[in-house]
This record gives sequence, structure tokens and C-alpha cells, in this order.
Amino acid sequence: MPSSHATPTPRNNVLSLFDLTGDTAVVTGAGSGLGRAMAEALAEAGASVGLVDISVDRLQAVAQQITADGGSCLPVAADVTDPGSISAAVRRVKEHFGNLDVVCVNAGISRGPGFPEAGGTLVGTSPGDWGAVIDVNLHGAFNTLRVAAEEISNGGRILVTASTAGLRADPMVGYAYVGSKAAVLNIVRQAALELAPRGIRVNAVAPGPFRTNIAGEGALEDPALDAQWAKTIPLGRMAEPEELKGLVLLLTSKASSFMTGGAYAVDGGALALSHAH
Ligand SMILES: NC(=O)c1ccc[n+]([C@@H]2O[C@H](COP(=O)([O-])OP(=O)(O)OC[C@H]3O[C@@H](n4cnc5c(N)ncnc54)[C@H](O)[C@@H]3O)[C@@H](O)[C@H]2O)c1
Repeated sequence: MPSSHATPTPRNNVLSLFDLTGDTAVVTGAGSGLGRAMAEALAEAGASVGLVDISVDRLQAVAQQITADGGSCLPVAADVTDPGSISAAVRRVKEHFGNLDVVCVNAGISRGPGFPEAGGTLVGTSPGDWGAVIDVNLHGAFNTLRVAAEEISNGGRILVTASTAGLRADPMVGYAYVGSKAAVLNIVRQAALELAPRGIRVNAVAPGPFRTNIAGEGALEDPALDAQWAKTIPLGRMAEPEELKGLVLLLTSKASSFMTGGAYAVDGGALALSHAH
């Protein structure tokens, strides 16, 4: 009796699982750090990438680099906290390339001190800092997910950038940051349930400390920080944005066809120390 497994698989077929040729992706926060690395990874895998960021200057620099490297991209300035702005940007990308298959919900900020001794206390958290972080990290993520659900094709993949700070307490960041990242992790689970019947998969990455511009341009380039992190991270250092590329490609490609509703840490072993997963 013929079996559905009878088709021979070429020995070198596994890499084709990661091939995104013909797909269109949108990445928010693509102008810097993790979003930039995501956009590069998707373009390198063959996708056309809509680069979305609030900073036009950053977008131009990333678009130039991706194009110079032979990739296909379209920079579109938008503010994820404004539902109309992010919706228009996602629709513009879909209109330009003709389809939408991958959305990386990544734009995020961190404000105010983390350590209690530096003022990162309940009482010391200003309403302004609280509101700004919740607005981008939670409202912005929801606004982006909402338009993604409307515009993405069946079989599409959505990837949300959460944080290890959403899985446990984290003295390096503030209340709004840990709260917003914990919230988006549960929104990912809810959206995975809702969108599963359409074959749309929704997952989260939970990065540990990466050297990006989240603490201000160049603020995390100080090598002395590695020594500080070494105490809390088994691999003994911060990560470079490129170190997220492999997981991004896995979760946005056919290689993860049975994965949805999950959160995956890239944290140098930090969560292993806190038994949080
Ligand atoms: N760097 C880390 O250690 C780390 C760890 C865990 C999670 N994260 C998360 O990764 C994501 C990316 O952060 P990053 O570290 O690359 O920071 P980053 O500052 O280098 O990049 C964030 C980008 O988002 C853009 N942005 C900010 N507000 C926006 C808005 N309202 N609309 C559109 N774009 C906006 C910024 O202009 C910037 O280009 C965030 O969600 C962050 O919380 C970062």
C-alpha cells in the first residue's frame, strides 16, 4: 500500500526548509539592534523585507546595507504606538511586494532605572516612564499583531520579541519593562490559539542581554559590562544581535512547521540558573 512517506527526500533537502524565497516579511524596530539582525536574516534567506521603524535615518542605513548585500527591502517609517500608522505601513509593504507571510513584532524600548538601589522601585517609577514603555512594548505589539492578523496570508508566521525579563524578575530593568514583556508572552499564546485554524503560527523569542541601542546609542558597547553580566550568565558575556539570527530563521520558516504558541530563550543559559523554564 502506498504510504504518504513514500516520496524520496533528497539528502540535501533540509536547508530548503529555511528558504524564504518569494515570501514577504515585515519587521518593526528594523532600524537597530535585534530588529536589524532579524531583517538581515530574513533578507539573506530570500524574503523581501518591509523595514519599519520610527527613525527614518536608521531605516535608510539598514535599507542601504541590505540592498548592497543583494537583498530586497522597502523602508517605511511608522510609529507602532499609533494603530493607523503601523496599519498603513504593513499594508504598504504588502501592496508593494504583493503578499505578506512573516511579521516580526519587535519594536521596543526600556526607560528608567532597573536596580532598586538606582531608583527602579515601585515608588521611584515615574508615570511618564511607565506609560512610555507600556505604550511601545504592549500597545505597540498589540497594534502590530492586530494588523498582522488582518493582512498575513494563511500559513503565515508571526514572531514577537519578548524577553527573559518577561519570564522572571529582572533587576536590570524596570517594572514597565518586565510587565510589558510578561503580557506579550501571554498574548502570543492567545493569538496562537486564535490563528491556528488558519495555519498561522505565533511564537516569541525571549532574548537575554544583547548589545543593541536600547539603553541609548553606544551605551551597551562598554566591555566592562561583560564583567558585570558574567556573574549572571553562564556563558559569561552579553550577546551580539547576529546571535539571534538562527532562531529567527527557524521560527519564521517551514523548519518550525509544528511550533506555535511557544517562547524560546536565547540567553547564554541565564534562565537555567533561575529554573524559570
Ligand atoms: N537588547 C536586549 O538586551 C534585549 C533583550 C530582550 C529583549 N529585547 C527586545 O528586543 C526588541 C528590540 O530592541 P533592541 O534591543 O534591538 O533595541 P534598539 O533600541 O537597538 O532597537 C529598537 C528599535 O525600535 C525602534 N522603535 C522604538 N520605538 C518605536 C516606535 N514607537 N515605533 C516604531 N519603532 C520604534 C527604535 O527606533 C529602534 O530602531 C525590543 O522589543 C526589546 O525590548 C532586547
